[in-house]
Amino acid sequence: MVLQTLVTYGLALAIPALYLAYRHFYNSPPVPAQRREERPVKSIMQAPREDLAPPKDDPYTLEELKEYDGSKPGSKIYVAIKGTIFDVTHKADVYGPGRSYSIFAGKDGSKGLGMSSLKPEHAVADYSDLNESDMKVLNDWHSFFSKRYNIVGKVVDPPATDSSSL
Ligand code: HEM
Repeated sequence: MVLQTLVTYGLALAIPALYLAYRHFYNSPPVPAQRREERPVKSIMQAPREDLAPPKDDPYTLEELKEYDGSKPGSKIYVAIKGTIFDVTHKADVYGPGRSYSIFAGKDGSKGLGMSSLKPEHAVADYSDLNESDMKVLNDWHSFFSKRYNIVGKVVDPPATDSSSL
């Protein structure tokens, strides 16, 4: 009885979560190979861009990155993924203060992106404990952003000071 309830609730949660992850990237039922060319895959996500600027590798610390969370009128909005910093300013409707994905603005929230989580405690740069499937989701986001946003720099945080070794 308990097991049955757990399985029922587990499925009830897992199915929407998987569907959501699927919709984020594809939003279309699989199309047989021979029909793929006739019927381009339509996504709810913005299309890749052809006019991206050459990537820059200007160094920013995580502290410096906080400036770019869109809270100052007219300032740029940056989102970092796996240390790569993307300029998402033109999507202020999504990343600006109070908007759906503002949690990722002005920081490297790689772990949360991998986990498909919007919880503030997950929006951190250290993604070292992600499992294989969350790593795949994170890498998909990195590639999604790379095709849509200009790269303006990289995160170069000084290594954390371990006070026990001082
Ligand atoms: C009920 C849950 C959700 C719905 C209905 C939803 C829906 C959407 C839609 C419609 C877009 C396209 C938005 C646009 O381009 O304006 C989008 C983009 C996006 N979603 Fe979600 N989403 C959900 C949950 C999540 C979660 C949990 C995450 C956490 C990682 C997430 C991360 C993103 C990101 C990073 C984008 C890309 C925005 C961009 O730069 O174009 N979403 N979502």
